[in-house]
Amino acid sequence: MAGGGFVVGDGQKAYPGKLTPFVLFTCVVAAMGGLIFGYDIGISGGVTSMPSFLRRFFPSVYRKQQADATTNQYCQYDSPTLTLFTSSLYLAALISSLVASTVTRKFGRRLSMLFGGILFCAGALINGFAKHVWMLIVGRILLGFGIGFANQAVPLYLSEMAPYKYRGALNIGFQLSITIGILVAEVLNYFFAKIKGGWGWRLSLGGAVVPALIITLGSLVLPDTPNSMIERGQHEEAKTKLRRIRGVDDVSQEFDDLVAASKESQSIEHPWTNLLRRKYRPHLTMAIMIPFFQQLTGINVIMFYAPVLFNTIGFTTDASLMSAVVTGSVNVAATLVSIYGVDKWGRRFLFLEGGTQMLICQAVVAACIGAKFGVDGTPGELPKWYAIVVVTFICIYVAGFAWSWGPLGWLVPSEIFPLEIRSAAQSITVSVNMIFTFIIAQIFLTMLCHLKFGLFLVFAFFVIVMSIFVYIFLPETKGIPIEEMGQVWRSHWYWSRFVEDGEYGNGVEMGKSSSNQGTKHV
Ligand code: BGC
Repeated sequence: MAGGGFVVGDGQKAYPGKLTPFVLFTCVVAAMGGLIFGYDIGISGGVTSMPSFLRRFFPSVYRKQQADATTNQYCQYDSPTLTLFTSSLYLAALISSLVASTVTRKFGRRLSMLFGGILFCAGALINGFAKHVWMLIVGRILLGFGIGFANQAVPLYLSEMAPYKYRGALNIGFQLSITIGILVAEVLNYFFAKIKGGWGWRLSLGGAVVPALIITLGSLVLPDTPNSMIERGQHEEAKTKLRRIRGVDDVSQEFDDLVAASKESQSIEHPWTNLLRRKYRPHLTMAIMIPFFQQLTGINVIMFYAPVLFNTIGFTTDASLMSAVVTGSVNVAATLVSIYGVDKWGRRFLFLEGGTQMLICQAVVAACIGAKFGVDGTPGELPKWYAIVVVTFICIYVAGFAWSWGPLGWLVPSEIFPLEIRSAAQSITVSVNMIFTFIIAQIFLTMLCHLKFGLFLVFAFFVIVMSIFVYIFLPETKGIPIEEMGQVWRSHWYWSRFVEDGEYGNGVEMGKSSSNQGTKHV
């Protein structure tokens, strides 16, 4: 029988176990991986709008920025090296997450987290002490390697540690820690930018050492997951640990299923080709389209470049950084709304509501910027009300993302994959996310320069497409146990043609037939 947390017979089978202080502690510590990811997202935009940083490393950008406001404002930040600084991290993360999948499987989740923490530390230090652009890029690449390891291992760690009943909440907890990381970075940028002498950017970049140390030390005190111990043949230790984690003595049912899952998982030679089977078409589609659309909302334009963007529309550096703090706070608060509402209102409602909200805001922001900057990018004097209107609509946009595509972009893939493809499909989701984060980070400033206010209309177009996609193709998954998810595809007007009755290889059929179908255990 496939394991990985629970199994299903005719009725539902539930493992005994509570949300013990021990499991809470381990999950909170592990979720710090999200904090580091968020810190990186938040820090880059702020630093790249600090004049002292630009003057030192990107003098041509600095000169354009200092030129008077009659020059084309859309293009003042258009520099391939500047965007490489931001986006190199995501490419590095993409590559290292592939390496990390082997480390995580063969040596345990903890070791990957430890590697992640150490690489982070190294990257943060090189960045903090950087004297040349190449040091900045090398530092970013190391940070990216760190993120790749941490992001590969932490979600696995959380979902293996968490009692299945709390897995959803812990999932969005990871997104919450990303948003907190972004906010902390933005607040620090705001204060560090004020430091006289203009070396505050060193503290902003070097500050990544703090969350890096937390995850490094955390990984040293955290136990490895029972699943991982079993995979590496440490059965007795795993059983003892499982008792401690679940806070109950009788864990034999869950333990036996974990052992069986591990056996099945090891019998699979080609989890990737398994994923290409016709019956997994809906899952593969969602594994690719959900992270693709999440990035095509344009959210990271705001996350990476909010201060730059606010600067472009006429804010001073100080006001730009402050506005980024405001959007960061909205991001955290709206994520809490999602935690509260996701199981009440459903995923589809949040996706569609959030999409509509983002669409309206993108149209308003495009109109505002178009009206004042025109096509030549020369705004002249900008009134205060104008800036307030733009920031307000950007905040409403961020809130729309933060309670829809933000958390759901991670939650929905993780809950729709049946066990036997879960690990491979989740890797695809992570990789697609990183590739498109990289692409957006790399081309945004050039696109702003060429498409001008029309850039916001490009993202608006994608929001329309993704909302229609969700409306037509994504079934509601609220309140449905993961192991019974097959029914949502079987009863779907389109996906039912791929997922025939009895063909869905989830825990139910596998349990009943003891089939030797591929189970890749997560
Ligand atoms: C996305 C990130 C984004 C963040 C913003 C995450 O879900 O994957 O790309 O920067 O949300 O809060």
